[in-house]
Amino acid sequence: KVVAVIMVGGPTKGTRFRPLSFNTPKPLFPLAGQPMVHHPISACKRIPNLAQIFLIGFYEEREFTLYVSSISNELKIPVRYLKEDKPHGSAGGLYYFRNIIMEDNPSHIFLLNCDVCCSFPLTDMLGNFPVPCKTLYTYQYDSPNINQMLVTVEAHKRYSGMGTVLVSAESANQFGELVADPITKELLHYTEKPETFVSDLINCGVYVFTPDIFTAIQEVSTHREDQANLRHLSSFETLQSPTSRALPQDFVRLDQDILSPFAGKKQLYTYETMDFWEQIKTPGMSLKCSGLYLAQFRYTSPDLLAGGDGTKSASIVGDVYVHPSAKVHPTAKIGPNVSISANVRIGAGVRLIGCIILDDVEVQENAVVINSIVGWKSSIGKWSRVQASSHIYFAGLADAQPYFSRPMETTTQSSELLSLVREAVIVEDEVVVINSIVLPNKTLNVSVQDEIIL
Ligand code: GDD
Repeated sequence: KVVAVIMVGGPTKGTRFRPLSFNTPKPLFPLAGQPMVHHPISACKRIPNLAQIFLIGFYEEREFTLYVSSISNELKIPVRYLKEDKPHGSAGGLYYFRNIIMEDNPSHIFLLNCDVCCSFPLTDMLGNFPVPCKTLYTYQYDSPNINQMLVTVEAHKRYSGMGTVLVSAESANQFGELVADPITKELLHYTEKPETFVSDLINCGVYVFTPDIFTAIQEVSTHREDQANLRHLSSFETLQSPTSRALPQDFVRLDQDILSPFAGKKQLYTYETMDFWEQIKTPGMSLKCSGLYLAQFRYTSPDLLAGGDGTKSASIVGDVYVHPSAKVHPTAKIGPNVSISANVRIGAGVRLIGCIILDDVEVQENAVVINSIVGWKSSIGKWSRVQASSHIYFAGLADAQPYFSRPMETTTQSSELLSLVREAVIVEDEVVVINSIVLPNKTLNVSVQDEIIL
């Protein structure tokens, strides 16, 4: 048996996501019409012999009660929310609930960050099952040596170390960077968010461990305790490193405290994903990741893509999600990368491109929303526009063309490049909102550009 643990953090984390997470915990913010945490949960469901899924965080229990009961029923697998009394860090939280996690005596424990967006190749990481042809092809292409390829795809099983880390080839210093042995894939060196270049392989925040991980975390805690005792006995505080002085004994970080010291000790291995991978820390990234998940639905859940009940005969372009309770006028044109939540009303002649429309929003006749997030219960007036940049001013197909030809990275990577209308905002008729953030309960009767409306 195996179990999966998804670290969802808590209200004091995810500050860059804040304009959106004031209303709803970040893990429940909808991407492609499903709560963010739904995507890793669905991926876990595909792991053979999965006994349970645990969400560990320090949000109030009531915030997750409804979600965990509905997802457990839907997937027919127990999903439990375990609340920490305080933040214990990404490894400390796991350790805190070790007895519950080990109830089913699992041979392996998957550990996933909630705020990453990828295809979660979990079964491949474990190496239990034949590799799909597409993956075989990719590896053969990259590496002419077939034996080398098999070493890669079966990393965890073959070397039976303590864990396998999902990695991706990227160069960005806001992630953990690592060096792996090109043949054995052993993790040789790990630095968390280095200031200077270490490697172009990054930690994706998805892992599989044997239960030995608990011993490793315990060792970190014990070491901390010993140091604290030493400090207590000694007046030579300067002997201690600033890090060990600052952190409580039960606060253990997976990256700095486990991956760094265990690198190069034949305990940790890597599995490189060739698929998409992104981190979801800002509203701009949520828009991009919503699009990536919508595109993935083509293969995993085509039934969730528009064309079904809610849309009737509206014109759909590319990947679009429409909640069954939403009402979309047949003359509206929607997509690509649009996600429409529950009870939304989309009027006649509306054009939506690259946006997330949250619950109970009304978009009135002939309004246009491009590259934006429209918050709960807001209303966009007739002939209004909410958009990310002033490049496209009219909604005709020809004018929309430059949007499509620009790379995704430049259109949605940061929160500066989108308009964000928070809940219960009224954008009156014929008002244009460009590149702006509008905070809740505002009525906009004049056009704005590059502003934050408090
Ligand atoms: N339950 C719980 N308790 N969850 C936590 C806690 C905690 O005390 N602290 C962090 N988390 C969760 C976060 O919600 C997130 O899902 C995950 O653990 C990692 O969060 P951070 O420790 O803040 O790290 P990060 O997201 O900045 O970077 C990590 O992930 C990157 C990939 O997205 C690092 O592991 C990087 O190396 C990695 O590249």
